[in-house]
Amino acid sequence: MSPFEKDLSLLIRSRYPIIYLSTLEEDRSLKTLENIARSEGRELRTWRCTSGLSGSGGATTDLLAALGQISKEAAKPSLFMLYDVHPYLENPMILRKLRDLAELLKTTQSALFLVSPSPLVKVPEELADEIWVVDYPLPAISDLSALMDRTTSNFSDRVRLTPSGRERLLESLLGLTEKAAERVILKAFLAGGELNENDISLIQSEKKQILRRTGILEYYTSGETLEDVGGLDVLKKWLKKRGDAFSEEARAYCLPSPRGLILFGVQGCGKSLVAKAVANLWRLPLLRLDIGSVFGGLVGESESKIRQAISVAESLSPCILWIDELDKAFAGVRGYQGDSGTQNRVFATFITWLQEKKKPVFVVATANNPGELPPELLRRGRFDEIFFVDLPGKLEIEEIFQVHLARRQRDPLNYDLKSLAKQCEGMSGAEIEQVIIDALFEAFTEKDTLKDEHLTAMISGDKNRDIEPFVPLSSLMKEDIESLRSWARGRARWASRQAPPEIPPLQAASGRRIEV
Ligand SMILES: Nc1ncnc2c1ncn2[C@@H]1O[C@H](COP(=O)(O)OP(=O)(O)OP(=O)(O)O)[C@@H](O)[C@H]1O
Ligand SMILES: [Mg+2]
Repeated sequence: MSPFEKDLSLLIRSRYPIIYLSTLEEDRSLKTLENIARSEGRELRTWRCTSGLSGSGGATTDLLAALGQISKEAAKPSLFMLYDVHPYLENPMILRKLRDLAELLKTTQSALFLVSPSPLVKVPEELADEIWVVDYPLPAISDLSALMDRTTSNFSDRVRLTPSGRERLLESLLGLTEKAAERVILKAFLAGGELNENDISLIQSEKKQILRRTGILEYYTSGETLEDVGGLDVLKKWLKKRGDAFSEEARAYCLPSPRGLILFGVQGCGKSLVAKAVANLWRLPLLRLDIGSVFGGLVGESESKIRQAISVAESLSPCILWIDELDKAFAGVRGYQGDSGTQNRVFATFITWLQEKKKPVFVVATANNPGELPPELLRRGRFDEIFFVDLPGKLEIEEIFQVHLARRQRDPLNYDLKSLAKQCEGMSGAEIEQVIIDALFEAFTEKDTLKDEHLTAMISGDKNRDIEPFVPLSSLMKEDIESLRSWARGRARWASRQAPPEIPPLQAASGRRIEV
């Protein structure tokens, strides 16, 4: 039996009478229960509203009649698997019957499984003590390995994979349901006439599409590394120190897997950039959760989406789950029940998972304003650390210039970075990058090489070139940034050792600026 099957079997043997199994994979969950039933000598019976209770012979397409039949036959050790019962859980007759049946089942060796594609949004009060809710996990590597053997059995001579290639190919299938994985394997085979390591990239791009269809998770591939991040030395050191924290060696050393980080702070200073760079630093897959799009749709859909996202992330673990703009998603959670509590329920699901997650899913959450976040999120045990990403200090600005000049094939040694950094005090990384891009355009139009004077013109303005000075966002948001800093004191760690710059007073009322 698989670990999941063992867990379920334990529930059954401990006489949990009703188990709600939420899954999109009816075939797989049926196999799971068949396995358990077989190894424990129980009978497996199924019920659908179209065909009634298997093996009953009578008219049991009516759920009430089927439940009556089950109570009569429950003395024989059995697992009863009932499909799509969730809409019936509004019916008082059914609830009463289920409650009576639960009492009876506790005295027998039988259990009832309610299998449904949607999660149980709200356990009916009447059944709160009787129902145990389980999310059926997506296929693990071992399941995928068996699936691969089955799917390729007709063309096994054209599977050209080394053992490590096979391992990597199976890993690339993680996060998919069995049916989706099967389709992807077949497609990869048909596209090239054989299955080999080159198919991994095809599988990954298919997976990207499939995950995108969930509407909330994006399988993110990016080339950013920590070398692309200027400054933020404390944060970088923290991340580097945990580079091998997901390895077997770390487990053997009894190190816990890192849980996650909150990065908050000034716009355009590298929070999202760091989230992308961590994935490459740790060589883990990066999943981006669009928490805003979790909300909306039908009642119960938001919960279903967040659970689905969690389940995909766990099946891909170890991985990084990047949640941008956490503050915007959960800003209203304190008490406001305007949307019939959906936001609160999603929040509760999320926070419970954060607290209890066993799988190595490292969460990187970014926020502009942590004061908006529900305080429970910031409590110890949910994230390892809260970092405040402030405006870059002078030396950091130099580093950011280095990164962006080098990225555009300019040798940083050819520029007076000290003087440029002084002029750029108060700017964010995104603004410094914009200054470089604007200066490159200017130099290009003048058919010149990029020089200090082009950069200076873009920062301080240049009448001769008809360029207005750059107005950093910080000078317009002085109070906001100062209040962020005072919030951070005692609550968060500065991501950089350097003293943050004084925010320069607004010098020019008009000027150029960028939206970040
Ligand atoms: N510290 C930095 N080093 C190098 N580049 C930076 C840095 N900070 C920002 N940038 C540049 O600015 C771009 C935008 O930054 P990023 O998206 O990471 O900001 P953010 O802090 O997430 O902002 P927001 O709060 O608006 O989401 C980056 O892609 C990068 O090119
Ligand atoms: Mg961002």
